[in-house]
Formats: sequence, C-alpha cells, structure tokens
Amino acid sequence: MRGMLSKSIVSGAVGDFATDVRRGLTKVGQKELPSKYLYDEIGSKLFEVISELPEYGLTRADERLLRAHSAEVVGRIPGEVILCELGSGSGRKTRWILEAFSRRRHTYYYPIEISPAALNICRRELADIESVEIVGLEREYLDGLLEVAARRQAGQRILVLFLGSTIGNFSPSADVQFLKEIRTILQEGDSLLLGTDLEKPVPQLIGAYDDPIGVSAAFNLNLLARINRELKGEFVLSRFEHLARFNTATRSIEMHLVSKQEQVVRIPGAGLTVALELGETIWTESSRKYAVSEVLQMASAASFRCEVQWLDQEWPFAESLLKAE
Ligand code: TRP
Repeated sequence: MRGMLSKSIVSGAVGDFATDVRRGLTKVGQKELPSKYLYDEIGSKLFEVISELPEYGLTRADERLLRAHSAEVVGRIPGEVILCELGSGSGRKTRWILEAFSRRRHTYYYPIEISPAALNICRRELADIESVEIVGLEREYLDGLLEVAARRQAGQRILVLFLGSTIGNFSPSADVQFLKEIRTILQEGDSLLLGTDLEKPVPQLIGAYDDPIGVSAAFNLNLLARINRELKGEFVLSRFEHLARFNTATRSIEMHLVSKQEQVVRIPGAGLTVALELGETIWTESSRKYAVSEVLQMASAASFRCEVQWLDQEWPFAESLLKAE
C-alpha cells in the first residue's frame, strides 16, 4: 500500500487548451498563446536542453544556489514541513532541498503542474530519494496550493517553492498579485522560496532566449506544432520565425512567433480559422528581469518578510527565502 501511495499523481481539472487557443488567437490587436502550454512532452524535453545551453545560465544559477544553501533553508524552518512546488520543472534542482529535509524527517513533496509530462520527468528524477513521499498534483498553481493547505495538519508548516523565475512570466503587477494570492492561502510562519532572474546586459539576454543552435526557437515553435498535433491545426512551421526582443519599458524579454507571410491557418479542433499578416506576431511569453530592490518590494507588498537572500556570482539571479507575516 505504501508503495502505491508514494510517487502518485492526482490528476484533475486544468485549463482547456482549445478554449485558451481560441481566446488568444482571436484577440483584437496582439494575438497571444499562453506560455503554460509550451511544456508538453516535447516542450518539456526541449526546455531541459535549453537549461544546458551555455547561453542560458538561469537554471544552473538557480541550481547552484539551491545546492549551496539547502541546509540553511532547512535550518531556518524548524518542525514538520510540507513542501510544495509550483511548476515541478525537471526536479533536478529540487533534489537538494528534498534531500536536506528528508535527512531531518519523513517529508511530503507536492509538485503542482498542469503538464503530466513535466510531472513524470520530475517524479522519475526524484524517485530515489528516501523518506520523501512525492504526490504530484495535476492542477493550476493556486488550486494545487489550496489542496495542499487543506491537507495540512495542526503544527505543520508549508514551504512553497517557486523557482526558476517563473514569477517573471507574469505581467508586471500580476506578479505581485500572484504573490498576494499565495500569501492568502498560507498562514503566518509558512515560507516561500522564490527564484528571480535579475537584470543583465541586453545582448546576453537575447543570446539566452535566441541561442545560435536554435533550441529556443524550436521550443517556441513547438507550441504551434502542439496545436497541430492536439487540435488538428494546419500551421506550416516554416512560415513562422522565433523572435526574442527586450522590452525596455517592462524590462522583460518577450518571445513571439512572427508570421513570415500573409496567411490563413485553420485549427478545426479549436473551431477556428486565423488570418495573419506579414510580420504580425503571436506573443507567447514574457520573462521579466528584476532589480534586487524590486524583489524585496514585491515580497513586502505581498506581506512576506525576506529572511535571507542569496545571489549567484556567475549569472545574476536571486533566491529569496520569504516568511509569511
Ligand atoms: N520561463 C522560461 C524563462 O522565462 C522559458 C523560456 C526559456 C522560453 N527560453 C525560452 C520561452 C525561449 C520561449 C522561448 O526563462
């Protein structure tokens, strides 16, 4: 029974791909596709390759900080801790935290993810850690967190992991709003370990999001390929181009798919036909780059106190341990 329970997945209601595609591609003005759909099975694998690219230092910086400071995180959160992670990623960087907690006592870990492919990669990666019960929740972030909070027993504290700078994928002000929503689900004394990518020279950022061997381009274009696979879309991928540009007003890298010609694309599975002009773009993701002071402001605006913050020396990136107050 124990064996069956451990490393399980609880699946459930997540957003509807067809509905979101229809909504995004019929928008007046800038067309868009939600970035959360980048991570199907192929997308998740491509993202793993991105995180190995020399030009994309973000994931390695995150991982270095977690490896170096996991023991301190554990030391700062006494008692019985339930871990939950918003977006399971590959699980590789979470290993350090899980191992550190599991050395103290048997620990529950809930990765929360809308992508079953990503959940599977994470479970496979972490399955060997003893004294950790992995329960994958196939849920939107806040729904999953609500569920974890509902399972909390008296005396247990929650540590939310929100790593890899996913917070930067929200639009400005939606990021603070999201932290506030996390805070309302948590109780005083719970914690949030937040990863944020920091400002760096624009050419370096462009290189990270438009690498010379084209993995970033493939990752972005896979979203159209996914629409073809799952919604019988008729996108011809060679008629689109990956674009990464820096928006100085929001200090974000913006990812787009640019239509290389005037074209009409049918997507029967979404009940939709889309017309695109030459040079028109579909916006797929923005990735905000923070100043350290902005991270601290954002935390306190959401009623968290920053206990400790670590910065990577090689790739400007911050890991902040925030306490709900
Ligand atoms: N969330 C990742 C980031 O902000 C995603 C990402 C990395 C990405 N490289 C990309 C998205 C290229 C689209 C294209 O860093």
